[in-house]
Amino acid sequence: MTAQKFIIEGGTPLQGELKIQGAKNSVLPIIAAAAMCSGETVIENCPEITDTYSSTRIMTHLGFNCVFENNTMIIRSSGQRISEIPDELMREMRSSIIYMGALTGSLGECTMTFPGGCELGPRPIDMHIAALKKLGAKVSDEYGIIRCSAENGLHGAKINLNYPSVGTTENIMLAAALAKGETVIYNAAREPEISDLAGFLNRCGAKIKGAGNSTVIIEGVKKLHGCTYSVMPDRIAAATYIAAAASSGGEITLDGIDRGVCESCISVFEQMGCKFYEYSNRIYVDAKRKLKGVNKITTMPHPGFPTDAQAVIMAALCKSSGSSIFVENIFENRYRHVDALVKMGADIKVIGKAAIVNGVDKLYGAKVSATDLRGGAAMAVAGLGAEGITEISEIRHIDRGYENFEGAITKLGGNIRRA
Ligand code: EPU
Repeated sequence: MTAQKFIIEGGTPLQGELKIQGAKNSVLPIIAAAAMCSGETVIENCPEITDTYSSTRIMTHLGFNCVFENNTMIIRSSGQRISEIPDELMREMRSSIIYMGALTGSLGECTMTFPGGCELGPRPIDMHIAALKKLGAKVSDEYGIIRCSAENGLHGAKINLNYPSVGTTENIMLAAALAKGETVIYNAAREPEISDLAGFLNRCGAKIKGAGNSTVIIEGVKKLHGCTYSVMPDRIAAATYIAAAASSGGEITLDGIDRGVCESCISVFEQMGCKFYEYSNRIYVDAKRKLKGVNKITTMPHPGFPTDAQAVIMAALCKSSGSSIFVENIFENRYRHVDALVKMGADIKVIGKAAIVNGVDKLYGAKVSATDLRGGAAMAVAGLGAEGITEISEIRHIDRGYENFEGAITKLGGNIRRA
């Protein structure tokens, strides 16, 4: 297939209403959790993004039938189960690591290679492996092949994470759901997607308490059964469309999402001068005024400001009055979008973990290449507020996490097409 591009003509303020897609970072672990369930699982509000398709390829390989239509995925076990994931499937996304807990927990073994995903600097899996070992698995890593086994099943344990890793917390919840006895995770990640995964698992018969807090308690059960579950809205997609409205000076309404789930981003947009009104599961955003710089935006684990929204908010702030300082604490290499923004006329300096954005009056369209999922989205946000045409190549990165991105922007009156 020829590589695709987005062609964006900037300058039209976004306007209108948009339904927010289901959350990528929720649906991927939820699909993996369905690999632990008997019977049929129905996942609603499932975003049509390429990472979801990668998950269905893994599930099909593992012995499940997946039917995915109209944002609903139906997963049924086909009888024969497989506990090994080939390298080409593992490398399609970072979330493939979640199958370590799901398979070892339900089948007592798994064989896999290292996961892929966005290149954001080193993304080790040492915490995942250490946690599985605590739960009683034997884990070996030779020539890049990871083998986990627990002949007599996993057992509960007290696990103190030295960092609240999202993926590790999810892997432990999956592995411990069918383990013997109680598992307690201290310093667990508190992201809303963790609560969503726990909500799904509990509906399947698991006994998980405290998800969304630092201490999560999982009492192992003997069996999980399928259920019907609707995935939470994607707070990072919401932040991206708000950033696009802010960059273009527009006013939009996001449907299907509450302010609470986006609070850490909305408070930054408010400092930028955007106005928000909420009503019945909708957020109205008025971003018609010139944006103001924000003193300091520091990425932190939830409930702090999310690293995933750093790039798109930086793109909107390029055209603000005054200066803004970003500090990226989660990933070593998450400023890869900066060169493209500078090419479009932004004034940004990166010094180690910090990026200083000095607002400019205008951005100009340019030919740029998406570096990663959120970095690519940031280029689109900048392009919508720029003069002239922006051409973004390597948009496969954007397709990994945004459902019909061009459709969403077009619905808001933006000028974008896929070529
Ligand atoms: N880390 C380790 N060792 C581990 C695991 C993590 O050192 O074994 C480090 C990572 O290298 C990183 C930090 O801990 O520096 C945070 O990693 P975490 O495990 O919390 O992140 P993740 O599970 O790999 C998820 C999201 C990311 C999001 C981060 C942080 C999914 C599929 N991915 O990744 O989403 O940035 O949490 O919130 O849930 C995105 O959507 O664009 C994205 C990258």
